[in-house]
Amino acid sequence: MKKGFKAVALLVVIMLFAAVVAACGKSEKVSVGIVLPTKDEPRWVQDEQRFKDALKGTDYTTEILFSQGSSAKEKENVETLINKGIQVLIICPQDGDAAAAAVESAKKAGVKVISYDRLITKTDAVDYYVTFDSVAVGAAQAQYLVDHAKGGGEPLYLYAGAASDNNAFLFFQGAWSVLQPKIADGTFKIANSSEAEALKDTADLSQDRDKLSKIIGQITTNWDPNEAKNKAQTHLTAAAADMKGDVAILAPNDGTARSIADVFASDKDVKSFVVSGQDAEKASIQYVIDGKQSMTVFKDVRNLVKDAMGMALSILDGNTPETTGEYDNGKIKVPAKQTDVIVVDKDNVKAALIDSGYYQASDFQGL
Ligand code: GAL
Repeated sequence: MKKGFKAVALLVVIMLFAAVVAACGKSEKVSVGIVLPTKDEPRWVQDEQRFKDALKGTDYTTEILFSQGSSAKEKENVETLINKGIQVLIICPQDGDAAAAAVESAKKAGVKVISYDRLITKTDAVDYYVTFDSVAVGAAQAQYLVDHAKGGGEPLYLYAGAASDNNAFLFFQGAWSVLQPKIADGTFKIANSSEAEALKDTADLSQDRDKLSKIIGQITTNWDPNEAKNKAQTHLTAAAADMKGDVAILAPNDGTARSIADVFASDKDVKSFVVSGQDAEKASIQYVIDGKQSMTVFKDVRNLVKDAMGMALSILDGNTPETTGEYDNGKIKVPAKQTDVIVVDKDNVKAALIDSGYYQASDFQGL
């Protein structure tokens, strides 16, 4: 009897031990690794949260790491995840060209790579791309400025994202396709870019990255609100009286839009301004409600996360993910899945962002 009890106790201990070992083993092995560019911009914290929401209650083993604006840290993150046994890497690069090295080591380790939101360029080590329609983002920003232009000869201030981000090119290309005819017909006059001025008769810049580079090099914000603020201050200090009054401002995203808007709002010679944005960041939604930022482009990150995780799971199941097109990354054509964007201003902010369940009304004042 005593012996039997001992044997059972031993068996229970062994079983418990085995369960603990199995659990530990499982938590160390990650099947999908996610790498995002920085926690310093609300856009990417949104993505992290939406990934977490999507994974709640599932038993997929994933890990999310941030690169904090450093391509070296990004490479290190990828190596860490490879060592944890990932089979799929979902990565939004800090710098599209520089990330090639990181994904090349993933490829060598047999890991499938999904470029997330931003395309990784000049490498064949990218298997898939999930993205919003970035050309449409830029076109929508520009269309808003056109639709709200106050008459002829309105000063137009142009700002762009970081030249290391392929999206910055797509956004500007989309914006230019809408703005150029309106510059040519005199609706707008360019206030702050001699490079854009020099190209004002070129309608289509989509095939000419060098020309786009010249403009972006001059009006880049590097996606940094501070840099945007400094540039806007410099531009307004240099602007003659005929470049003030009622103005239009192409700002590439919400972080830069808010700081550029603040600068323009504090210039007494600027009578009114219309300014674009992108990302539907909470702080910018409040700005839109308060009339301090004119519009934003809502990119429903829930859809991008769903597409990326859907692809990852189909790869893990040994299937080929569904794609809707392809993007040329300078080396190969990457099969891609693209999702649409929504223009938001004061008129539809509640319907688009609150009624859709994306944000809660209690996050804002004066809705
Ligand atoms: C872009 C992204 C935008 C914006 C920007 C700054 O690549 O598509 O949504 O967040 O980077 O991080």
